[in-house]
Amino acid sequence: APVKVKKICCIGAGYVGGPTCAVIALKCPQIQVTIVDLNQARIDAWNSPDFDLPIYEPGLVDVVKASRGRNLFFSTDVDKAIQEAELIFVSVNTPTKKTGVGAGFGADLHYVESATRRIAAVAQNSKIVVEKSTVPCRTAESMRTILEANCKPGCRFDILSNPEFLAEGTAIQDLFSPDRVLIGSLQTQEGKDACGALASVYANWVPNGRILTVGLWSSELSKLAANAMLAQRISSINALSAICEATGANIDEVSHAVGYDSRVGSKFLRASVGFGGSCFQKDILNLVYLSESLHLPEVAAYWRQVVELNEYQKSRFSKTVVDTLFNTITGKHITVLGFAFKADTGDTRESPAISLIRDFLAERAYVTIYDPKVDAEQIWQDLAEANPNLPLELIKKQVTLAPSALEACKNKEAVVIATEWKEFKEIDWQVVYDNMTKPAFVFDGRLILDAEKLRKIGFRVKVIGRGSQ
Ligand code: UDX
Ligand code: UDX
Ligand code: ADP
Repeated sequence: APVKVKKICCIGAGYVGGPTCAVIALKCPQIQVTIVDLNQARIDAWNSPDFDLPIYEPGLVDVVKASRGRNLFFSTDVDKAIQEAELIFVSVNTPTKKTGVGAGFGADLHYVESATRRIAAVAQNSKIVVEKSTVPCRTAESMRTILEANCKPGCRFDILSNPEFLAEGTAIQDLFSPDRVLIGSLQTQEGKDACGALASVYANWVPNGRILTVGLWSSELSKLAANAMLAQRISSINALSAICEATGANIDEVSHAVGYDSRVGSKFLRASVGFGGSCFQKDILNLVYLSESLHLPEVAAYWRQVVELNEYQKSRFSKTVVDTLFNTITGKHITVLGFAFKADTGDTRESPAISLIRDFLAERAYVTIYDPKVDAEQIWQDLAEANPNLPLELIKKQVTLAPSALEACKNKEAVVIATEWKEFKEIDWQVVYDNMTKPAFVFDGRLILDAEKLRKIGFRVKVIGRGSQ
């Protein structure tokens, strides 16, 4: 029969593990949840007296406030938390490999592996180990092999796959009322019991009909598939946006009309400067790598094109900026509004803003950046990584960080919207215009501005997916 879960350990206090397990603690006051991480600074931030948490996510602070110190704990004592828990989430990072076999495609699983080995080394009784990080198919199988080869007599490990579908910026909302919770297990009695134990945790707030139980590999593949299909929608609409720009059709009208078809659906069809975030590209590249290793080159090529189109969309947009500014931006001053990969997050992983700014720097333009949530240190780190041939001192000569959107736009020739922050819609664009060099240009990479209104003020405006007027 399923064990009753009284203590949960979550290994990895990042964007996935932190919010997910904080919500479990909130919804299950009878369960003690300990989130552990090797990174002392991160744990200190989670524990900070004034709730200055390491990640920005709307609503997260309230969730942590409600439970921290009651049944929610953050710690660097990984071993103790493992030993005490009946159920362990593995939510460590799984970045794309940078070197070696599968570099640029395959997932770097060494964080998953070392967390798994730690569990095997210190566990003194049986555990349910839940793979939460997005991982390539069959990772659960590798975890099982490692655990079984290293466990002490009398310990058994049941492995579950329980991928997280939350989106950043809406994580708390997504966790409170998920479209579905997916749990994959071996179809043995033990596997089903472990699945039941985890399902009963979620049953504290998720309706039964939304808790789906499937085989381990289906669960792992479903996560990759969901992200690949979401990204594919964006690449599809972005491919159409290029046709719109060339023909004078309007991508907003096209996606509205297409989205009305209930078989297609209206969500997630907003054209943009390109998708970013830690998941889409990584998961598609995982799928490409998997397809290739299964000798399915046509399948690999199909999914690879989703990423290639995204790269194309980003460089197409920087080229529009250069072309429009009379074919040269050398020495010109460009403001980039937004640096996060989407609104309502401070996360910059794979943000399209990084590619745009790299292109602008390559053209030797001066760039001023403003983002309401990304801190300066993160921006410098991302720009240094994206421009390995430019020393940081040189980058800092070309790039300025501004304290507000209005300040960022002063005396500049062009403003580029890279993230759809709500505050950019609410800027007083007349004031922006009055303070800019003329002719003043606005490039809307997120379709958030009223182009007609801006043109009336005097701006020259380019919007993704609209022909020039
Ligand atoms: C995604 C999935 O949505 C989530 O289910 C999964 O668990 C993790 O990956 P996330 O990357 O946090 O979540 O954000 P998401 O809202 O999916 O946005 C990803 C990127 O696509 C962003 O850069 C966003 O701006 C872009 N996007 C999204 C568009 O360009 N157009 C859209 O219509 C939607
Ligand atoms: C399609 C569009 O659905 C319709 O809106 C448009 O006006 C004309 O083209 P149709 O070709 O008549 O309609 O049939 P549809 O139901 O779309 O099926 C097209 C093909 O896709 C069929 O061979 C069908 O078997 C196949 N299909 C459909 C699948 O293989 N899987 C599915 O999930 C759906
Ligand atoms: P994600 O977006 O997947 O949550 P993050 O990078 O935000 O990824 O978080 C992953 C966290 O996992 C990091 O804080 C990292 O320090 C932590 N981590 C990685 N490996 C281990 C490990 N073996 N034990 C404990 N924590 C780990």
